[in-house]
Amino acid sequence: MTHPASFFKPGPFDALLGAADQALRTLWATPHARRPMPSPDSAAISLDDDQRREAASLMRVNHVGEVCAQALYSAQALATRQVGLQAHLKAAADEETDHLAWTEARLADLGARPSLLNPLWYAGSFGLGYVAGKLGGDALSLGFVVETERQVEAHLQDHMQRLPLADLASRAVVDQMKQDEAQHAADAQKAGAVPLPAPVTEAMKLAAKLMTTVAHRI
Ligand SMILES: [Fe+2]
Ligand SMILES: [Fe+2]
Repeated sequence: MTHPASFFKPGPFDALLGAADQALRTLWATPHARRPMPSPDSAAISLDDDQRREAASLMRVNHVGEVCAQALYSAQALATRQVGLQAHLKAAADEETDHLAWTEARLADLGARPSLLNPLWYAGSFGLGYVAGKLGGDALSLGFVVETERQVEAHLQDHMQRLPLADLASRAVVDQMKQDEAQHAADAQKAGAVPLPAPVTEAMKLAAKLMTTVAHRI
């Protein structure tokens, strides 16, 4: 006998609608964090104009990174038919929503706006994630997650050196994100990731370099 629940099993069209909904929400809705925004232990120090401008540029880059993370996870979930992997990607994307909300809030506090090119970054990352998922299969898709998260972690570490020392609020957010990204890489590794071919890793580094350079300004 067919279980009644099977009538409501989501099909490819629902998955596509879900991906479209995710894109619209990432780009144009205000994200809601499930965890409180990390805050510094000591009292805030006021920033001068140069410090504020530099912090805003770096946090804009970090916000773009989180927009890309939403796109990658969404595309990879669409590309796989394996329910376990979909659940893994969904859980990771939920945690990335915290990062998206925190970086957006911090940008607003700094009096700056997100990158104007976010729709472009989203589309590019979605395409990459989908191709990785479809052409490479699930293990390579997870390998793609591991590599992305490791590159993001290294890049956040670099931001910890570059953010003004006085900007304790941004530093608290970036520090927590860095820990989460390391955990995401470890989780994907445990879930069965395989290493990516070296040219793919290099291409990802180049794409990230382009994105961070442009997003620093626009
Ligand atoms: Fe993140
Ligand atoms: Fe992550």
